[in-house]
Amino acid sequence: MSILSGKNILLGVTAGIAAYKTAFLTRLLVKAGAEVKVVMTPAATEFITPLTLSVLAKNPVYVNFTNEHESEERWHSHVDLGLWADYMLIAPATANTLAKMRNGMADNLLVATYLSAKCPVFVAPTMDLDMYLHPSTQNNIDVLKSYDNIIIPPEVGELASGLEGPGRMAEPEAIIAYMEKHISQDLPLNDKKVLITAGPTYEAIDPVRYIGNHSSGKMGFELARQAVNMGAQVTLITGPTNQDCSFTSINRIDVVSAEEMYKAVFAHYDNADIVIAAAAVADYKPVEKATQKIKKKSLEMQLKLTKTRDILKEMGKEKRNQFLMGFALETQDEIKNAQKKIAAKNLDAIVLNSLNDEGAGFQYDTNKIKIIDSDDQITAFSLRSKKEVAKDIFDFILNKIP
Ligand code: CTP
Repeated sequence: MSILSGKNILLGVTAGIAAYKTAFLTRLLVKAGAEVKVVMTPAATEFITPLTLSVLAKNPVYVNFTNEHESEERWHSHVDLGLWADYMLIAPATANTLAKMRNGMADNLLVATYLSAKCPVFVAPTMDLDMYLHPSTQNNIDVLKSYDNIIIPPEVGELASGLEGPGRMAEPEAIIAYMEKHISQDLPLNDKKVLITAGPTYEAIDPVRYIGNHSSGKMGFELARQAVNMGAQVTLITGPTNQDCSFTSINRIDVVSAEEMYKAVFAHYDNADIVIAAAAVADYKPVEKATQKIKKKSLEMQLKLTKTRDILKEMGKEKRNQFLMGFALETQDEIKNAQKKIAAKNLDAIVLNSLNDEGAGFQYDTNKIKIIDSDDQITAFSLRSKKEVAKDIFDFILNKIP
């Protein structure tokens, strides 16, 4: 998944010939999973039509402060647009727009929105060679950098005028790669590899039956999404679940049984920095899987079970630099039992859910947790959505890792 997935991106298009590339840029932003709105200067509409960008962005395009169509909203609020955006990208940014931005002018919707935006602003300057090299333009760029705008440098090459040099707008792919890199490097889990187990495991009895449990996988999937949002490279090893993870950058590995989960985990464990075992792994499996469907015969039947491998305990034994976190679902003596698991499995911390808490545990969208660390420190959290719980868990881990 791209780090831009789920983000609101406001694309500002000004009147340069490179505006034709914004069709590709918009398409790539949408493909990366971003919600895109476009604001154009009136002159930019001479280079590419608002209709083209609107169709590609799947959103209306804003050009003027007021809307000439009576049936639609009358007023385009630059403040609302600025607040909506997680990131603003001005591409192409002409010399004229750079000068206006530097001076705080607000004589069109685009620059007024820029002035209102509280989010990071990426700017891709584009103009002819001599305009770009002119001291006033260079000076404007320096000042805009000092205002914390992020300048995406133009590429060197043949320009529309026939001159050669810097001034060509970076290609759409390069602009997106630049944004992704810049955003990731500021994220707290940048460069960290996170391994998460999720969901139940199914232990086969015969070709059609299994031993399983009610784990939905929700918690593990929320943890994976949160880790990506914090910049991590994520491997998610999951048992059978209906959960869908729209984040294509997550390395999702589907498994069925505890043994398959064990093998998948150990293929990735050595490289991991943070490991969270959120899976509800079956503790027992049938000694033998019948090759044919078992027919009903007598009134009673016995199934001989044997323990599965405790994946988390094995990880504890092999632990080197990983931060290792487990989950414990308890019904009695919760804290004492969870603490025992920290010691038995060599964990750095454990997330405790109590089935005594309403709204916590399997199938719910909410969870109420306590995190206990290996120094017996207990941090209690209120009932929260699993998404918020995932954030709490990673905020806790960030305080613990170097
Ligand atoms: N776990 C695991 N492999 C297993 C069993 C459990 O990796 N075969 C992990 C779970 O993902 C969870 C933690 O161990 O992070 C706690 O699991 P739990 O089943 O609650 O604890 P157990 O150690 O199995 O003890 P008990 O069932 O007796 O409570």
